Amino acid sequence: MADSPNILNYKHRHLLGIEGLSHLEITHLLDKSEEYVEQNRRADKKSDLLNGRTVINLFFENSTRTRTSFELAGKRLSADVIDMSVATSAVNKGETLIDTAATLNAMHPDVLVVRHGNSGAVQLLAEKVNCAVINAGDGNHEHPTQALLDALTIRRRRDDLTGLKIAICGDILHSRVARSNIYLLVTMGAQVRLVAPITLLPPAIDKLGVEVYHDMKEGLDDCDIVMVLRLQNERMDGNFIPSIREYFHFFGLDYEKLSAAKPDALIMHPGPTNRGVEIDSEVADDFSRSVIREQVEMGVAVRMACLEVLAKNLQQERAEQ
Ligand code: CP
Repeated sequence: MADSPNILNYKHRHLLGIEGLSHLEITHLLDKSEEYVEQNRRADKKSDLLNGRTVINLFFENSTRTRTSFELAGKRLSADVIDMSVATSAVNKGETLIDTAATLNAMHPDVLVVRHGNSGAVQLLAEKVNCAVINAGDGNHEHPTQALLDALTIRRRRDDLTGLKIAICGDILHSRVARSNIYLLVTMGAQVRLVAPITLLPPAIDKLGVEVYHDMKEGLDDCDIVMVLRLQNERMDGNFIPSIREYFHFFGLDYEKLSAAKPDALIMHPGPTNRGVEIDSEVADDFSRSVIREQVEMGVAVRMACLEVLAKNLQQERAEQ
């Protein structure tokens, strides 16, 4: 696992969020991910880069894409990957998050991949362990690897993120995907627009360097990328929209609203999609423009890159102690 010293490298122990990362650090992670896209398309997808390392997936919330892709990523790098089932763990006997973290830490893992329903929980856990921690989504705070895979997908289609007009539409208020994407895309020089009803926008969100719209056709006007978000019903406490029917009418992405964007604008969605709620089925399945499946593919490459980089950093840190 020798790696030449490089001032552009990502030099942190953990990956807890995109906020605060530099253009160079993000570019380094994307460049590293790019190397894995080709490897994942080969018949033989394995390398022995993380042979002997242990990765534990600890998901306190449901997941299909993130959990499976982290498991695949670890296995393709020959790490030992433990997918811990929270539902059958001692968490259900009342063990706290910190005790669970300390217990797993005692088994000397190299990387913990953690998803938790509370914003800040993954950061708290990271302070209690001496391995690397990757935030796989914490509450409505951050989902850094999702933003990286979205950026990789865009970069492969459009070469450069600088100057692209990117609309993020829907439930911004409850979305960790939106937050991580805003930090990343603004840092990389994209022009980010948020399109949502006032009830689904966090206060003072415009301070993050984005433009805010409440009308889809105005927000999508001349956009290069249209990113649609799921209504995060599981995080809603009260009524944020009058009805699903009305929400789809005003904010659901259909061909009529999409016509305001550039003719070749890409359609993105982090998944899972709720067809007929935030996106029309035909639009989601229009693979001449929808890159939703490509996003999933890029997810494995990005997670391989993150595991590799953090495992190397940890090895170097331990060697220096
Ligand atoms: N986009 C995303 O995080 O999907 P999962 O909830 O399936 O992991």
